[in-house]
Amino acid sequence: RHIALLCGGYSGEYEISLQSAETVEKHLRASGYEVYKILITRSGWNYMHPSGQYIAIDKNDFSIPLDGDKIVFDAVFNIIHGTPGEDGRLQGYLDMLGIPYTGCNAITSAITFNKAFCNKVVASYGVVKVARGLHLIKGQPVDMQKLAEHLSYPCFVKPAEGGSSVGISKVKAKEELRDAVDKAFAEDQQILIETCIRGREFTCGLFDQINGEITVLPITEIVTQREFFDYVAKYTPGASDEITPADIPVHVANRIRDAAKTIYLKLNCKGLVRIDFILEDGTEDLYFLEVNTVPGQSANSIVPKQIRAAGMQLSDVYRQLVEDCLL
Ligand code: DAL
Ligand code: MG
Repeated sequence: RHIALLCGGYSGEYEISLQSAETVEKHLRASGYEVYKILITRSGWNYMHPSGQYIAIDKNDFSIPLDGDKIVFDAVFNIIHGTPGEDGRLQGYLDMLGIPYTGCNAITSAITFNKAFCNKVVASYGVVKVARGLHLIKGQPVDMQKLAEHLSYPCFVKPAEGGSSVGISKVKAKEELRDAVDKAFAEDQQILIETCIRGREFTCGLFDQINGEITVLPITEIVTQREFFDYVAKYTPGASDEITPADIPVHVANRIRDAAKTIYLKLNCKGLVRIDFILEDGTEDLYFLEVNTVPGQSANSIVPKQIRAAGMQLSDVYRQLVEDCLL
């Protein structure tokens, strides 16, 4: 089968996407697929020919013009983190062309990619708590002074649509709020100011099988030496400990697994996603953090470690994602 492996993207997660693509390419080839790596950037959509040559994709039908012929794809394996691969844009385009792709559909991608909207939707399910948050939209008037007085600290200021913690600040005092808001608005048109939940951070990868069953991977606990699990903590080896499987009582693990599965099903997720949570110190309340519909597959990423910890092979899981999207 001809598989287009889409990587790159328009966001600060571009580099991570290239690293994820390396992992996926290797394992898809090991599964016997013909993989065509396609780099999507603002300046072009190009097939990266093994010779080093870049060949522009024909956007009319998403094919590669090659030697007077054209290569068309049976499926797309999407490993673009952030826009336009994780927010529904690419999914909408591929839907219009009728090309199957791995992962969530356009609407699920769009909802989950916006943390402010996704929080509202997930809160409505009542299965986990969601931190109190404020959704600000660029250009709409806000009294920053009043807001700063009103918030409790520390709080997080996040671009509503982003990944790998790019543009996120932990704000400890009202004097720091303005800079944090500006930083987040530099990344996005919408931001989210969220109460900080003190507790242990967990993340759980899961995917649906061809038979419809959901495989929930072992849970990872994230322990970081830094203020929070920021970009450096995420991708610098040694900057945080990611303990898989997490050292937690069975009943806590079950709560996280059940919550992840319920959220996955209710949001109509498909393919491999990773859902992040915080277990609040003292109360043991489980808080939802976010859904990652294109979780990282780089050497430092969590999901590949969870797959290995489950005793599974990356090549088997990636193959299953491709076959599932072809059904
Ligand atoms: N957004 C990054 C790639 C992740 O969730 O792993
Ligand atoms: Mg994320």
